[in-house]
Amino acid sequence: MCGIVGYTGKRQAQGVLYDCLCRLEYRGYDSCGIAVNTPEVQVFKDAGKVHDILQNAPLFKGTAGLGHTRWATCGEPTQINAHPHTDCTGKICLVHNGVINNYSQLLKRLEGNGHKIVSDTDTELIAHLIEEYDKGDLEEAVRLAVKEIEGSYALVVMRSGENTLVVVRQDSPLVIGVGDGEYLVASDVPAILGYTNRVIYLDEGDIGTISPDSLKIRRNGGYIVPLVEKVNWTQDESQKAGYSHYMLKEIHEQPRVIQNTLINMPLPESFNKSEILEQSRKTGILFLACGSSYHAALTARYLVEEHLNIPVRLEIASEFNYMHRLLPCKLAVVLTQSGETADVLRAMRRLKQAGCMVVAITNVAGSTAARLADHTIYTQAGPEIGVAATKSFIAQLIVLYALCFAGASAANIRYQDYLSTMRLLPSVVQSILGSHQNIKDAAVEVAKSKSAFFIGRGINYPIALEGALKLKEISYIHAEGYAAGELKHGPFALLSPETPVLALVSRDQTYEAMLTGLREIKVRRAPLIVIGEAGDEQLGQLADRVISLPSFNRLFNPILFTVVLQLLAYYVALELGCSIDTPRNLAKSVTVE
Ligand code: F6R
Repeated sequence: MCGIVGYTGKRQAQGVLYDCLCRLEYRGYDSCGIAVNTPEVQVFKDAGKVHDILQNAPLFKGTAGLGHTRWATCGEPTQINAHPHTDCTGKICLVHNGVINNYSQLLKRLEGNGHKIVSDTDTELIAHLIEEYDKGDLEEAVRLAVKEIEGSYALVVMRSGENTLVVVRQDSPLVIGVGDGEYLVASDVPAILGYTNRVIYLDEGDIGTISPDSLKIRRNGGYIVPLVEKVNWTQDESQKAGYSHYMLKEIHEQPRVIQNTLINMPLPESFNKSEILEQSRKTGILFLACGSSYHAALTARYLVEEHLNIPVRLEIASEFNYMHRLLPCKLAVVLTQSGETADVLRAMRRLKQAGCMVVAITNVAGSTAARLADHTIYTQAGPEIGVAATKSFIAQLIVLYALCFAGASAANIRYQDYLSTMRLLPSVVQSILGSHQNIKDAAVEVAKSKSAFFIGRGINYPIALEGALKLKEISYIHAEGYAAGELKHGPFALLSPETPVLALVSRDQTYEAMLTGLREIKVRRAPLIVIGEAGDEQLGQLADRVISLPSFNRLFNPILFTVVLQLLAYYVALELGCSIDTPRNLAKSVTVE
């Protein structure tokens, strides 16, 4: 959370910083600010979103600067707490993404030494710490200051009158963009794609000292020759391309994402031969994730247990970190779109320490998860800017289905057919996107309610959870995802004509039980919106509204249900005039625990 940027080069820094911050805003949007060396440090910051605040900034002339967009952790989102922060002299200026755990001790010590701390943030303390160590060599001062910090940080630091930036990271992401006579620094790649596609991913503990014509990276006490990597994302992928919201654009990109992800999957043969998979048949596989990625992991559980006959243990990463006993699992699969979720990274480190092989499924090359994992499988979703996960979630499902079917195909030829059928998914998803008036109409009804239930059984249960999460995060309507069979064990008390129930119905082994449940809901007079298979006559008799999926192999219904529920949430939020791409209180990657 929080996005940080830095620039040093030949251009005027202010425009570059503004541009990059606009692309980083999805990481946090409570408050924002910039600082430019003119050559003295000039700071402009306030509570509010990047384009609202920074368009009113005075013009600062200077070719080095830094910027920040905030998701508040320590200190409310106010002008004074917004970054950048400076020391007592106003000469050391910095932006920070992360959290300082030993805040209280540092505060006491710095105040004891006469520092006047003006904000409630942990970040300001770092500026004062650097001031204490600054004897002329800024890199050394930063190195000594961060030694005192417990917690996570990505920092961009500059000193008045100089066009040098010092950057450092520990458990928070930071990339350096390499331009022609210029360098950019940012929390992630899409922010800088308008300027360069050549990047250096910093490792934990790296300290970089950057000026327009030189770059030094210090690692483990020595200086290294950094690896400059070319990224294959383009700036166009990070634009709205005529759509009213990133989320809608990203939903519409899903046919291409499915295709790209399938094309770039690892070879099924190599996966089948994997010894670790064989071993996992005895010891099981641990899946671990947070939020939407957890819902993908829960879907994986149904897939892997049914089609590979391998037992699965599933954990929410933040809870796993408090569990005292690790399983004898030899293989853990972590799902993380961003590759930077702090809870996931902590769990990964713990698993690796315990000798577990960790496979990461992530969307971001060079992310911390990709670097920590023993093996990484990339979803090919491209940059996702909307805070609510859509195409990155679909891409996770595609990877999971394809891996699972590839694994199962060794024992059963039928799975080769399923893999071939998957290649038709893009056009089936396209047909949902091409005609969805019924979903829009349903959205108008749902938008009138204060609360809604999403239900499914079996493999559709995780999709019900995901549908509810999408609705609540972007429309602020309270929504609960439930295993359909659980609704009668308590939540029935909440059913009323004001509480719509959205049910996902597949004509599989869950069908009859779903219909029974729908009848029970119906007699409690809750409006019933059923998403089911084409040609299912029974649904029309039970439901107030039926949304039919296109005809396709029902194994893939979870993917199709997901697309319907994404559109539904989008149109509800649109109807209610919500801030769809940047919902309140949220940020895209949660890099703090
Ligand atoms: C919801 C959403 C979040 C993320 C969660 C984990 O739309 O995007 O629930 O899924 O914060 O993030 P990653 O997958 O980056 O670890």
